[in-house]
Amino acid sequence: MPNIMLTDICNLRCPYCFANEFVNKDANEISIENFKKALDFIATDPNDKSVGLIGGEPTIHSKFKEILKLLIEDPRFLKVTLYTNGIKIDQFVDELAHPKFHLLINCNDACDIGEKNFNRLENNLDLFINKRYLKERISLGINFYKPDFNYEYILKLLKKYNFDRLRFSVTVPNTTENKNINALDYFKDYKEPIMKFHKVMIENKIVPYYDCNKIPSCMFTKDDFMPYKNLIPNFDENNIFSNPNERLIVNDLVHCSPVVDIRHDLTAVRCFGLSDVTKVKISDFPTILDLKRYYYQQIDSFACNTASSVLCLDCMKRKSGKCFGGCLAFKINDILELRKYSEEKIRRK
Ligand SMILES: C[S@@+](CC[C@H](N)C(=O)[O-])C[C@H]1O[C@@H](n2cnc3c(N)ncnc32)[C@H](O)[C@@H]1O
Ligand code: SF4
Ligand code: SF4
Repeated sequence: MPNIMLTDICNLRCPYCFANEFVNKDANEISIENFKKALDFIATDPNDKSVGLIGGEPTIHSKFKEILKLLIEDPRFLKVTLYTNGIKIDQFVDELAHPKFHLLINCNDACDIGEKNFNRLENNLDLFINKRYLKERISLGINFYKPDFNYEYILKLLKKYNFDRLRFSVTVPNTTENKNINALDYFKDYKEPIMKFHKVMIENKIVPYYDCNKIPSCMFTKDDFMPYKNLIPNFDENNIFSNPNERLIVNDLVHCSPVVDIRHDLTAVRCFGLSDVTKVKISDFPTILDLKRYYYQQIDSFACNTASSVLCLDCMKRKSGKCFGGCLAFKINDILELRKYSEEKIRRK
């Protein structure tokens, strides 16, 4: 599902935000004219009838209501996902009640966003869930952005509103220093906390599911899973790495494909984590499928031919394209260098 970045402005400044190349740097927002052009471009894929709204904080866009109405009336789109921090959604509850809309609410702790904003978020969850009965179209998410990340607050919210699922990411590196580091070293600090987090969630009958930047399976052993034995139904210790239940924790497939985020000026990036090196004009591509193919060719096809760590060198999961070794931002410099090398080779011929 491609996304349209409605605005660069955000009412928060999350420490982990990977859109930080743009967010709150300028007050750019997409014009209605460009929004329509972005929709036309996305609609060139006849098999995808969905679109995501991102930002900054999309609900800050000065014509957000008009944008929601346009989407409600557009028969080409059957599902619209709003990525939001949930602080201002009350102002648009009547439009968002339309069955096309799904809300992915990025929930931050009060210590990161302040008590006032946290209370607004909670009041809005009350409004959408208890007063307007829209729970089926709401998912809650968190960003596990430091190994000692405290998830008590989200557990309380999940239990209060009776959710049985939680979307989470181990945050993708968002600064130049953090990119191009040894991914397995980065994940080492997260392994124990993430396993404990899973255990706590499962004990509370909540299924945590990854958004992106999964911890690669080589970081886990069979013994790591023994504490889950009594918690997971049909636990099969001989089949840990292929049983779907255990995939919640361990991920054999550490892979992603181009998301395509379209900006206010109709440039696109493959995803935020790679925004500085994947900018193109959508007008250079006849359809969105051509743009996705371009990203596959220019970025993804090199991804498994570079390594996140020396351990990946002889690993069949890398060689067979199953594992990128975490987010591509960890090795984007190597990807670009390899691409340059192969292009120079072609030129020399
Ligand atoms: C950039 S935000 C924009 C929309 C909205 N302001 C929000 O926070 O949901 C879009 C999505 O990116 C996710 N995100 C932000 N920084 C991230 C990071 N460093 N790693 C992984 N996901 C991240 C957020 O959880 C959110 O779901
Ligand atoms: S609310 Fe969203 S866009 Fe704003 S800083 Fe946080 S992650 Fe970034
Ligand atoms: S490719 Fe690298 S990160 Fe992925 S499973 Fe193999 S060794 Fe681990």
